[in-house]
Amino acid sequence: MENSFGKLFTITSFGESHGRCIGTIIDGCPAGLPISEEDIQREVDKRRPASSISTARAEEEKVEILSGIFNGYTTGAPICLLIWNRDIDSSEYERIRYLPRPGHADYTAFVKYGGFNDFRGGGRFSGRITATFIMAGAIAKKLLSRIGVEVLAYTVEVGGIKAKAKGLDEVRKNVEKNPLKCADLKAAREMLRLVEKAREEGDSLGGIIEGTALNVPAGLGEPVFNTMEGDLAKALFAIPAVKGVEFGSGFSAASKRGSENNDLFTIQDGKIVTVTNNAGGILGGISNGMPIVVRVVVKPTPSIATTQETVNIERMEPDTIEIKGRHDACIVPRAVPAVEAMIAVTICDFAMRAGLISEVIE
Ligand SMILES: Cc1cc2nc3c(=O)[nH]c(=O)nc-3n(C[C@H](O)[C@H](O)[C@H](O)COP(=O)(O)O)c2cc1C
Repeated sequence: MENSFGKLFTITSFGESHGRCIGTIIDGCPAGLPISEEDIQREVDKRRPASSISTARAEEEKVEILSGIFNGYTTGAPICLLIWNRDIDSSEYERIRYLPRPGHADYTAFVKYGGFNDFRGGGRFSGRITATFIMAGAIAKKLLSRIGVEVLAYTVEVGGIKAKAKGLDEVRKNVEKNPLKCADLKAAREMLRLVEKAREEGDSLGGIIEGTALNVPAGLGEPVFNTMEGDLAKALFAIPAVKGVEFGSGFSAASKRGSENNDLFTIQDGKIVTVTNNAGGILGGISNGMPIVVRVVVKPTPSIATTQETVNIERMEPDTIEIKGRHDACIVPRAVPAVEAMIAVTICDFAMRAGLISEVIE
């Protein structure tokens, strides 16, 4: 397994869904950054389940700082952040141990780790692992704020219902106000209705999350293999259930003409900008100073209540599976803070590689 990401701002994620704890180690964070457990907790709380659409795992995810922060400031040493697993019920997973859930990682993990992996609650492949990303993201966001960079993520589509594009002020105001984390409150109500219907029918829904990074300086990214798009995509694909990533006009560029898709340059307040942002803030794998815009496809929750065909991998015979555990009918909103975190971690690493964040924060 490879559980570390980043060159200078390096994060290592550890722990399993039903093991003792989950956590993250951040190496390379400059000294002198003021940060408290509350700062990190605030970000982790964003992935709290909304009662109407989410899993019944009622766990409070309480962040503990184990190292690297002293007297409220980072010390320059590795930072270890931890969440103990408490509300664990693994009985259901013992029952379906040899019945891989369609759409989940049970089968591939069994093949890869020869059955030694901790399968309980999906183990390393659980959505709970995103809390480790979010803890690292909390530090990255704080570092980025020192250079004026802000990262936002929000739901733009669920079950085929598309949100109307909203200004960033509305995004900031509305996202934490509704269980879908969508800036368009009218669309959010419709999405919620569909999610509830899917849940009643023993089914689930997917959707699309958009992430925006503002005030990213031009010139970040390391072509040709560690491009801004490449590293962002890699970071975002680490989030379970993410099945597609596109930047700017993305896949719709395939049916556009160059004259439509090109972003024309102009000068505004003495700064080079583009009139449109079909490039999503990235040209040649390097940030161009415009907002970085990325959209992420989250598939429908694989664990659904409907009886499904599978195989018994111990007996090598066809079987069926009925999943009774605690699962969200739509995981899109709970993936929103993870998207925000992984964008922040990636840009923070590039900013450090470009020397924009010094080793000691003054
Ligand atoms: C925040 C979050 C929560 C998730 N919760 C569940 C869940 O309750 N049940 C489930 O079957 N899958 C859940 N998943 C998705 C699975 O972890 C994921 O589909 C699985 O690991 C297979 O990986 P893949 O979909 O990336 O191929 C969740 C994902 C995220 C990001």
